[in-house]
Amino acid sequence: MATDAKKTEVGSYFISNYPPFSQWNREALPEIEAALHAPPNVDTPLGLYLHIPFCRKRCKFCYFKVFTDVNAKEIQRYVDALDREIELVSRLAVMGDRPFRFVYFGGGTPSFLSPKQLASLAERLRGHITWDGAEEVTFECEPGTLSETKVKTLRNELGVTRLSLGVENFSDTLLEENGRAHLSKQVYNAWEWIAAADFPNVNIDLISGMVGETWENWRDNITKTIELAPESVTIYQMELPFNTVYSKDILGNKVESPVADWQTKRDWVDFAFNELQAAGYSVSSAYTVVKDPSKVNFSYRDNLWKGADLLATGIASFGHASGVHYQNVAGMEDYLTTLERGELPLGRAYRPTPHQALIRETILLLKRGYLDLNYFRGKFGVDPLVEWKGVWNEYVEDGLATIEGDRVTLTREGLLRVDSLLPAFFEPEHQNVRYT
Ligand SMILES: C[S@@+](CC[C@H](N)C(=O)[O-])C[C@H]1O[C@@H](n2cnc3c(N)ncnc32)[C@H](O)[C@@H]1O
Repeated sequence: MATDAKKTEVGSYFISNYPPFSQWNREALPEIEAALHAPPNVDTPLGLYLHIPFCRKRCKFCYFKVFTDVNAKEIQRYVDALDREIELVSRLAVMGDRPFRFVYFGGGTPSFLSPKQLASLAERLRGHITWDGAEEVTFECEPGTLSETKVKTLRNELGVTRLSLGVENFSDTLLEENGRAHLSKQVYNAWEWIAAADFPNVNIDLISGMVGETWENWRDNITKTIELAPESVTIYQMELPFNTVYSKDILGNKVESPVADWQTKRDWVDFAFNELQAAGYSVSSAYTVVKDPSKVNFSYRDNLWKGADLLATGIASFGHASGVHYQNVAGMEDYLTTLERGELPLGRAYRPTPHQALIRETILLLKRGYLDLNYFRGKFGVDPLVEWKGVWNEYVEDGLATIEGDRVTLTREGLLRVDSLLPAFFEPEHQNVRYT
């Protein structure tokens, strides 16, 4: 798993949960059933995730559950099932009287749906739930799927407050090589409509280490990003988990990894952070910079990392309710027929122990670049500094972290490789298991 190896080999780097997904299982399903049918802790923030698994094309580096070449009928069947699922979810006891504090439309490509499909989905969902009071409604977009009408629909009918645009790179040669569906011209076309629609937060996604990336092109990417001046920029370091076109090529055809090594990818992110900071942005996590921290808060990210409830809808979605992790079934037919029978499509679950919940929060919050030790003492009655003394000593010695008073802070070097620092906090039995 997560490695600091020089080359970008096949395997997962990015850590988004604990215990590892590979440990979740069907046997724990009664736990999530019980949690969903019991009243919540009313103080726990509630979020909703909706997964739209369709894309125009599969990126060669993509490891998500996505489908291409689907017809309108198949999309309709999926949207019907999703609507049914929201209806079932809206009746669950775990909802309590809690409003949704944050909503996230993820994919795949949610913007793959037409304006008509989006408006009708919103209207149907509003028959069961409301997200009018949500402080953040995020919607992931692929630039080439947008139109002026669609952007307006997102803002006015879905109430999207945070539009996240998958730019990834500004070079058409790189976009094509990596199998992206869009070209840079479509970014600029979309940008006009997005700017006109006045979203509180527009985010640009970039990837450091796309196949064919060079220093010269990367510098150009950052210049162009700064010119567009989005509220936030997210930069992921290219990873090649199992199930990507590139990783299959490396494993099957025994070709050399076509992706830059980890040090180069970190140098690129470091350069980007420095340039963006010089342009007035602040670093808000290992992956994100924001233009105005007082204006942009990341409700989804921050609530989720602190253990909020997240009701997951859509195929293969991940959620968390009253202390239990769960994931929906990953097979399309299974997902659709289960909902057509009127049942929730729960696939696997896991109830973390209190110690595992501590680990989860420690590793997720560390992605912001620091830990507030007081917060942990208050919430878990445990001091992460004492709990993992040896690990911290090593990180401080290696120049990856500093400790001062009630705060552990990652240095820039630590922050840029944060995901590789996290397995050290895992329980021994989870340190060398496959992550997903
Ligand atoms: C779930 S994807 C959805 C993107 C959306 N479908 C689009 O086309 O713009 C969210 C983000 O994950 C990142 N991502 C996807 N595959 C990746 C990989 N192999 N390594 C690093 N980041 C990746 C990309 O930046 C992407 O924008």
